[in-house]
Parts: sequence; structure tokens; C-alpha cells
Amino acid sequence: MTRRDSILRELGLAPLWRLRECAGQDTQGDMLPAAAAPAGILPSPVVAQAPVQGARAQHIAALGWDELKEAVSACRDCRLCEQRKQAVLGVGDTEADWLFVGEGPGAEEDERGEPFVGQAGKLLDAMLAAIDLKRGKQVYIGNVVKCRPPGNRTPEAEETAACFPFLQRQIELIRPKLIVALGKPAAETLLGAEVKVGAARGRRFDYRGIPLIVTYHPAYLLRNLTDKAKAWEDLCFARSTMADQPGDN
Ligand code: URA
Repeated sequence: MTRRDSILRELGLAPLWRLRECAGQDTQGDMLPAAAAPAGILPSPVVAQAPVQGARAQHIAALGWDELKEAVSACRDCRLCEQRKQAVLGVGDTEADWLFVGEGPGAEEDERGEPFVGQAGKLLDAMLAAIDLKRGKQVYIGNVVKCRPPGNRTPEAEETAACFPFLQRQIELIRPKLIVALGKPAAETLLGAEVKVGAARGRRFDYRGIPLIVTYHPAYLLRNLTDKAKAWEDLCFARSTMADQPGDN
């Protein structure tokens, strides 16, 4: 049994996740700018991918990692700051090729200050292992909002908008070769459009010149076991997209 098999078996995923091999994956998809509004995404007035204007955004856009961490920790620009224990910037290799973006910290992340350390995080780690990736090694994991939404509710549009300059700056600093949007809020925030994950998955979008792939959020997969096979396809697609990137070996 390979290391990947044993990780997936331990999490009860092995029968589903071994159904297909990446090599047989044929979903290629073209690079699609958000403005083209392909199947699965609809233009949205709520979030805009255009560069965020204003003094605050300009200030954030010039920060280095240390200053960014301080700014996120001190941020009081939306009401999510009121109940957080701490803000959670992100974790991993700050020069990673792979960027995974989730929704926002949950209770355990709020406690520990690291994204995806609860049940959904265990599944995310297994998903990474399934394509030979590891948290922290050529991988950076972040979230759309840096403070825990009370009761783990979906972040409101104003909260997402207030936090977006931080995510934009993270992406500029990391310069990943590929972004994987985990779930609807991440996909909508990054693409600036309304997204239906079921329709958007399997396609290659674009965030400011960086290929972006949409898949299901691990917390959703914990509740919808049958969609794990689709997430596996998406990861295979992500891996083949990465392999097509210049400089990848
Ligand atoms: N869900 C998320 O979207 N992010 C986390 O960090 C944890 C759970």
C-alpha cells in the first residue's frame, strides 16, 4: 500500500479516491477570463476582480510579509474582528507554486491561528497528499476572510470585500503558478462573479494571469461523500494544469 493509499484509507476515502487515476483525466479546459462569464459563473455586482482602489488598498498593496501579518492582526475594518480570538493570515511556503484558498477560519483555526487545522483541514491535507503535495512545501493555504465568522457562517459580501486587499497582497507576494479555489466564496471572491461550483469545476479560469481552478470545499465534501470523486478529478486537473506551466518539472 502506498503512503497515499494509507492516508486516504485512514480517512475512509480510499475506495472513492482510487476510482480514477489522474493519467486518464481528460478535462483540459481553456484559460477563461472572468469577464467571459463561461458556464458556471455569472457576472456579479457584489465582488469585483478589478484592482481595489482607495488609500487603504493602496497601503496594503505595498506591504511586505511582516507588515501584512501585523496589519491583518490589527485589522478592525469589518465586524468579524469583534468575536475573533485572533486573525489567521495563512500558512505555508511564501514562494509556493500552489495556492489553496478557503473561506474563513473556523473555531479551531481561530484558536490555533492556522488555516484548515480542524476536520476539513484533515481532509485538505489528505487531498494534498493524494497529489503528492504537503502543507508548507510548495503549498500555501489561505482564506478569503482572516477572522472567524461567528458560528462558521458564510462571510458577508462587505466582510469579504474588506478582507480582499489582504488576499490580493498575499497572491502578489507569493506569485503562485496555480490557484485552487476551495468552494463558492473563494471562487466568487477571486473571480469577481457569481459561481456555481458544480458548473465551474473542470474549467480553467484566470486570476490576473494566474490559472485558477474551482473545486468543492473540504467541509462540503465531509457532508457530501459522493462528490469526493469529483474533487479527485479536479485535483488531477489541477495537477495537469500545473504540469503545463512554464518552468514546472
Ligand atoms: N474552512 C475554511 O474555509 N478555512 C479554514 O481555515 C478552515 C475551515
